[in-house]
Amino acid sequence: MTTTCSKVLRNTGIENGSDFFYCEEFYGTSSKLPSIKSVERNVLQYIVGQDGPVRQIITAIYKSIVFSSLKSNLLIIGGSGTGKTETVRQVLRRLNIPYTIEDATKYTQEGYYGADVSEMLMHLYENANECIEVAQKGVIVIDEIDKKAGMNRASGERDIAGVEVLKSLLKIMEGTVVTIKEDGYPIVEFDTSDVLIIFLGAFSGIDKIREERLKVNQIGFSGTELPKAKQATKILKQDLVKYGLPEEFVGRIGSIVEMNKLGAKELASILRNSKLSIFRRYQQELRERGIVLSYSGRLFGRIAEKSLSLDTGARELTNTVNYCFENIMYEILSNPDKYQKRTTYRKCRLYLGIVDDNTEYRIS
Ligand SMILES: Nc1ncnc2c1ncn2[C@@H]1O[C@H](COP(=O)(O)OP(=O)(O)OP(=O)(O)O)[C@@H](O)[C@H]1O
Ligand SMILES: [Mg+2]
Repeated sequence: MTTTCSKVLRNTGIENGSDFFYCEEFYGTSSKLPSIKSVERNVLQYIVGQDGPVRQIITAIYKSIVFSSLKSNLLIIGGSGTGKTETVRQVLRRLNIPYTIEDATKYTQEGYYGADVSEMLMHLYENANECIEVAQKGVIVIDEIDKKAGMNRASGERDIAGVEVLKSLLKIMEGTVVTIKEDGYPIVEFDTSDVLIIFLGAFSGIDKIREERLKVNQIGFSGTELPKAKQATKILKQDLVKYGLPEEFVGRIGSIVEMNKLGAKELASILRNSKLSIFRRYQQELRERGIVLSYSGRLFGRIAEKSLSLDTGARELTNTVNYCFENIMYEILSNPDKYQKRTTYRKCRLYLGIVDDNTEYRIS
């Protein structure tokens, strides 16, 4: 499949077929897609503990791009810091198609107090180098969608404004033509029929709704144990409706992917193996200054356990690791002549206690 480009120049409406090269990086969307396996392999070097969800997400995105008649919008659910936003970013940046990641909380129905949803299309258009044909085959990621889910979870009241934003997204989800304006002037007509929309949300508290449903369904069966089969315990659309998403919105979601919860083992594995590991970044920077870290393999477990005390998944690893290196960084920064790249390396021993007391290290 190739996408032809008759780029409409901004404000002039002049068709300019000679701008061919301008959109070249996005050309022939599906024929230029890297192999699904290579994308999966690459993403898994960054995203740890989510092998199943990563495969589901990549498959759903590829399916929508390669088989456009099977395109369906995707919802990714998972606790804070499980890797929702990062996974989607890691996948999309490898696909040579334009995308935009939008924060739902910025948007309002009319755009009076916040941004109008047509701004999302504008961003996609800009990210496609203002080539409308290419933009129309792009991806919009709408993050924090649960914050518009119709309930103010603090007060327990209905959040009418949030629901209105979701409703204004309905048309874009099912395909419509939107006139994109800049400073009030129309610049391009955007047909959203082929745009893939991916929603992300933590939906904290939805586990309770799911458990309630499973308990109700169990009455008359075997007793108190919840069903273990994976399929049986999945979050269903009815749970999302109960959570506060409007039915017609949920009805337009084609597949739901649930991220895994990350326990101490997975957090330790992120520190040890992920290319995003904050620990590995410190290690690399220190090596540049001629310092080689030495530590027990158990250090990762300690950092992971400490980071679990907050319910923010892998996010908290950054804080814990920053704390561990605070004194070391101070020492290095205050002695720039002493610590610079050299042929003989110094050793910095990190003791397990560094997790609670960041003076627990020794440079020799
Ligand atoms: N599974 C993972 N593997 C490796 N790193 C991860 C993983 N999950 C999260 N991280 C790290 O934590 C950071 C925050 O993750 P991310 O933004 O994807 O969380 P999220 O699931 O979107 O959470 P929130 O609901 O709070 O937005 C990432 O930038 C990454 O460094
Ligand atoms: Mg996020």
